[in-house]
Amino acid sequence: MSITANPLPPLRSFPFSRSPNGRNPRVTMVIRSTTGVSVSTALPILTKLQKDCATPLPLLRNIADAMAKDMRDGLEVDGGSDLKMILSYVDSLPIGNERGLFYALDLGGTNFRVLRTQLGGKDERVIDTEFEQVSIPQDLMSGTSEELFDFIALALAKFVKKEGGKFVLPKNRSRETGFTFSFPVKQTSIDSGILIKWTKGFAVSGTPGRDIVACLNEAMGRQGLDMRVSALVNDTVATLAGARYWDNNVMVAVILGTGTNACYVEAVDAIPKLQGHNSISGRTIVNTEWGAFSNGLPLTEYDREMDAESINPGEQLFEKTISGMYLGEIVRRVLLRMEETGSLFGNYIPERLHTPFALGTPNISSMQQDTSPDLENVGSILYESIGVDSNLDARKMVVEVCDTIAKRGGRLAGAGIVGILQKMEEDSKGIVFGKRMVVAMDGGLYEHYPQYRRYLKEAVTELLGPELSSHVVIEHSKDGSGIGAALLAATNSIYEH
Ligand code: BGC
Repeated sequence: MSITANPLPPLRSFPFSRSPNGRNPRVTMVIRSTTGVSVSTALPILTKLQKDCATPLPLLRNIADAMAKDMRDGLEVDGGSDLKMILSYVDSLPIGNERGLFYALDLGGTNFRVLRTQLGGKDERVIDTEFEQVSIPQDLMSGTSEELFDFIALALAKFVKKEGGKFVLPKNRSRETGFTFSFPVKQTSIDSGILIKWTKGFAVSGTPGRDIVACLNEAMGRQGLDMRVSALVNDTVATLAGARYWDNNVMVAVILGTGTNACYVEAVDAIPKLQGHNSISGRTIVNTEWGAFSNGLPLTEYDREMDAESINPGEQLFEKTISGMYLGEIVRRVLLRMEETGSLFGNYIPERLHTPFALGTPNISSMQQDTSPDLENVGSILYESIGVDSNLDARKMVVEVCDTIAKRGGRLAGAGIVGILQKMEEDSKGIVFGKRMVVAMDGGLYEHYPQYRRYLKEAVTELLGPELSSHVVIEHSKDGSGIGAALLAATNSIYEH
């Protein structure tokens, strides 16, 4: 693209698709065009941003190496590195012969999902699945533990009441559920675990330090719901299980959504901190909690400011650089700076440009998909999300900023994946890269941001080279985590043992 620094013509005919508050945006635009919108003063800010966010191959290599090293250190001893390397207690993955009715609950972001599935064994596999999604009211994200879990148990109880049709619970059995809880939890067994801390903007009081399953059981008790949690899992672990049900070569799962994380299949004897744990398969799934990775990240002043103002300063730095909750916010901060120093959008700075998280990652992805000559959609999104009017040059500048942040995020995520593969390869003495290796991906960011996806894959190919990367299949496993949790409930059912 080219960004010209020429004086801009008045934007009389900019067609807004929607106008919030019934205001006629064109009127504002005409007034604003007389104030001397200047893209030239924003250019040095863009240039510096691109320099600070650059992810050349040597930097990516360092990230991959540091990720592999942090994994090892975290496996050695608890607290050995930024990566918690949490043991999942999932030693056997579903193989396809699971049968019966199983539920899954999924709490991990702004939405909460309940799901039931009827499994029919080797021949029939998944007979039917139903799910419902409820968004978590904002106030519950910072309320009390009891309020949050009551809300969950109520939604679940309502869902259970609608059970029927192909969903059949055998007589004299309690319903069983998998519970996907996508926050850092120190697992104490397959069906218990202590919340270490909240992430992704949750700040519910009374939960950290408590057993999550006990919190849920108490709330289910208050609802009079007879349901047994047979597997407590992270969303990465559920995704891996869900994807593995269909494909035996899945060894790694990565979530790129509101937050980010990765898990993988590890050999039990490669985990020094694992003492007295017997795994018949000799393998177990390790939840890396890679969102906390921090080594060698190319951070900018915008990242530092965002981190300092966050509810968890100094924590989850990888997550804050690559995941969906934060990319839009980083872009907003850059645009605010461009506006303040160079009047990118005119002299008037709307309140919303100052409002944290007013620009979401879905917004920046949509802007990058705009192929119209005058970037009409970019203009509408900017107006609706952060209240600014823009001319074509400003919109081009904005798209460049989005691309810079998405590129850094995607490439760093790719380097993280290579770090995990590298660690597995080093231990397996050459067999990992020699055969088909599937990385199951899930999460809205990965699913809905094509440029991000492309940057991620490019980084993997650059790092591994054409030959090795040809064995690595990076595959979207949509909704694998819901069904995966239900499958793990089946694998760990009390009735099977
Ligand atoms: C949590 C992880 C989770 C990831 C993706 C992170 O914030 O710490 O446990 O897997 O988000 O949902």
